[in-house]
Formats: sequence, structure tokens, C-alpha cells
Amino acid sequence: MSKLKEKLAKKIEEHRPRTTRLVKEYGDVVVGDVKISQVIGGMRGVKCLVTDISYLDPYEGIRFRGYTIPEIMEKLPKPEGAEMPYVEGHLYLLLTGDIPTEEDVMEVVEEFKSRKKVPQYVYDVLRTMPRDTHPMTMFSAAILAMQRESVFAKAYKEGTANKMNYWEFMYEDVMNLLAKLPEIGAYIYRMKYKGDTPIPSNPDLDFGADFAHMMGIDKPYDDVMRMYFILHSDHESGNVSAHTTHLVASALSDAYYSLSAGLNGLAGPLHGLANQEVLRWIQNLMKSMGDRVPTKEELEKYCWDTLNSGHVIPGYGHAVLRKTDPRYTAQREFALKHLPDDPLFKTVSLLYEVVPPILEKHGKAKNPWPNVDAHSGVIQWYYGVREYDFYTVLFGIGRALGVLSNITWDRALGYPIERPKSLTTDMLEEIAGIK
Ligand SMILES: CC(C)(COP(=O)(O)OP(=O)(O)OC[C@H]1O[C@@H](n2cnc3c(N)ncnc32)[C@H](O)[C@@H]1OP(=O)(O)O)[C@@H](O)C(=O)NCCC(=O)NCCS
Repeated sequence: MSKLKEKLAKKIEEHRPRTTRLVKEYGDVVVGDVKISQVIGGMRGVKCLVTDISYLDPYEGIRFRGYTIPEIMEKLPKPEGAEMPYVEGHLYLLLTGDIPTEEDVMEVVEEFKSRKKVPQYVYDVLRTMPRDTHPMTMFSAAILAMQRESVFAKAYKEGTANKMNYWEFMYEDVMNLLAKLPEIGAYIYRMKYKGDTPIPSNPDLDFGADFAHMMGIDKPYDDVMRMYFILHSDHESGNVSAHTTHLVASALSDAYYSLSAGLNGLAGPLHGLANQEVLRWIQNLMKSMGDRVPTKEELEKYCWDTLNSGHVIPGYGHAVLRKTDPRYTAQREFALKHLPDDPLFKTVSLLYEVVPPILEKHGKAKNPWPNVDAHSGVIQWYYGVREYDFYTVLFGIGRALGVLSNITWDRALGYPIERPKSLTTDMLEEIAGIK
């Protein structure tokens, strides 16, 4: 058993009595009421999920296992000469709740190396798809195609899996799957956009560096991707990709089925696809200006035109956040250091000044501030990844770290199949006293 798995086993043993006690002794304690507006309105704010892996405060933003983004960037071990931490160390933190030592991280790096070979049939599946298929469809299909590898599904079928050890099989699937994602993502990129010239993985490199290598992009893109994967990893449990992955896994579907489903949700324009939308939206504007940075007035007009035509301003607003997303801020700081004079970055910075007051005046969005997607594409564009259709795949590789950590814990804590109750409109009218 790997040291990470051993540590996780110990953490799970310690945690289980807390969950059991809450259910058995305090199961009837009321957490909150539910209003009709919440029943109809996408369950906004209904407290009905539990996770210890990350928590999203509306004003402070995300904390991973209790640590803010700046704390994560400072405390997690980094490769020699790198600005950003090992992705493997972040996974260790998400799974165990502890900041790993350098030695702990190197063990995860090694564990990934031994699990990262992608089966040939995955490439065959990808190559059979029409080349104009969206890269998210390819990514999700590649993951789903690998379901036959599931150790969890096999153990369940053979009867060796039970409620107490489900998580151990889930862990195997999660690690096998995560180790392969950078190669699958980079393969799709090189096949689809770079004249079908995939670059083989370099076994000596860590998660972020190997991804940069397979994309064919020089330093500091390895750091860009370490930062990117860490920032996108988790955003507590109610967002579409996290919730979907958790929901599907609650039926005891394995990690392959569950992640593929979660990614299909991430592919929506109101969720992960927003980073592609941001770039498309800004590019359209800059093209109409002859590729120059627009003036503040031009930008204001463009924002109002977007709103008045009934569209959202991509990259702004959030269902939970009520301030600038710290994931936006982390990327902005990176850009200020590495690409301060880039015209696209200048436009994005100008948008940061222009959009919030406009959204406030517009009076609809509860949060006028930028979210992570408002910045993600700019840095990718600068380092040469200009095929913005691909950006959600990058988000998906990062998001897998969080959602797969979550479903490992879901099985460890014995969370049951999810099954909320629905009502009819008649019933709601009766509850409202209008029928
Ligand atoms: C993220 C998002 C889906 C959250 O949705 P939400 O929780 O329903 O947000 P709100 O409660 O603030 O929405 C209230 C109203 O403001 C509108 N609104 C929210 N964000 C907006 C934006 N960026 N531009 C224009 N209008 C916006 C909503 O469409 C909604 O309008 P409606 O009443 O006509 O349906 C929404 O802010 C959005 O569409 N943003 C743009 C897409 C994006 O950046 N997504 C990535 C999220 S990480």
C-alpha cells in the first residue's frame, strides 16, 4: 500500500465516528429552511451537501482544506526553481487534509508515473471521432471509454467490495485516472490543433511539467499549468461539475462514469465553458478595433451592447461569491509579473475597472465581480494556446483533482445514494396559500 493510501486509511478511520455520531445522535437537528424561490431557483443557498475538502466563503473565496490560495502557494513543496507548487502535493492535501513534506510529494509523483500509461484503445476512440468534435466531448469520451479498467466496478461485481472498503477500490481508480489525464488532454490538443503531432510523455517530469512538455510549450508554461490545475481543482460541492460527479458516484457508479458525467456539466457555457466564452467575447471586440486595446468608453459601450442584446458578460458574476474571485487575483498577479504589457491582459485589466459598475447599474447580477474564468484564457493565449475551444479541457484536468478526492471520501464515509424530493407546481401553490 502506498504511504498516501496508508495515511488516508488512518484519516478515514479517525473521521468515520464523527459522521456516524452526527447522523445517529444529531440527525434531527435542523440545518435550515427551504423557500419556494430556492426550490424553483436552482437550490441556491440550500445547505444540503457535506465536504471537508474545500469551502467557499462568499466574501473570502475558496479555502482548500482550510488554506487560502496564497497559503497553498506558499506552503506546498515546489519543484526546484519553480514558482508554483507540485500539483501532486495539492492532491495530497485535498485527500488527507495535511500539507505534505517534499518526500510525501515525491511519492505521489512516483505513484503517478507508474499509473500514467494510457491504453491504446483510448487513442483509437479519439481518432475515430470527427476532428471538429468539441475537445470536451473527446475528453469526456476518452474517460468514459476507460471505464472497463475500473477496479471498483470489478470488485463490486465480484463481491469483494463492501461498504467499509469501497474507498480503497475508488482510490485505485482515482489515482489511475488522474495520472492519465494530462496525456489524454495534451494528445487531444496536438491531434486536433497541431497537425496530429502528439508528443510522448517524459517519465521524469511531474504532473504540471509533463503536461507542458506534451503540449510542446516551454517554461514557464509548466508553472502556468501547475497554478492553473491547483486553482481550478475544487470549489466546494454544489457547483455543477462537483455535484454531478458526486451524484453519479452516489449510485455506486465508478470514478470513470462519475468524472465523465461531471465534465459534461463543466462543458456548459454558464460553468467551465465560460473561460472560452470570455476569450471569444474579447477577441470579437479587439478584432472589431483592429487588434488594439479598446478605450474605456469603447469597452463600456461593448458591455452595454452585450447586456442589451440579452447576453451575460462572461467571466463576471457567481452563484456564491460576492467579491473578486481569489482565483482571478492569483492569475492576475502572475500576469502582472510575466505579461504586464500584453494587449489582451491590458484589456482584461480594463474590464476589471469597467464591468463591475456597469453590472451594478444593470441591477441584475448579485455579484458584479470577476470569477476565475475572466482571467484563465488570457494567460493561455499569451503562451500560445490560442485554440480557446480547448480551455475547458484544462479546467477539467484541474477539476478532476477535487471531484475525485471528494468521491473517494464519499465512499469512505458511506454517503448514500442521493435522492432529493420533488414537488408539483400545484403543491407549491398550496404551500404558498394561493390554491
Ligand atoms: C455564474 C452565473 C451563472 C451565476 O448565476 P446566478 O447564480 O443565477 O447569478 P445571479 O443570481 O446573480 O443572477 C441574477 C440575474 O443576473 C444575471 N447575471 C448574472 N451574472 C451576469 C453577468 N455576468 N452578465 C449579465 N447578467 C448576469 C443572471 O443572468 C440573472 O438574470 P435573470 O434574472 O434575467 O435570469 C452568472 O453570474 C453568469 O451567467 N455569469 C457569466 C458566465 C460565467 O462567468 N460563468 C462562470 C462561473 S464560474
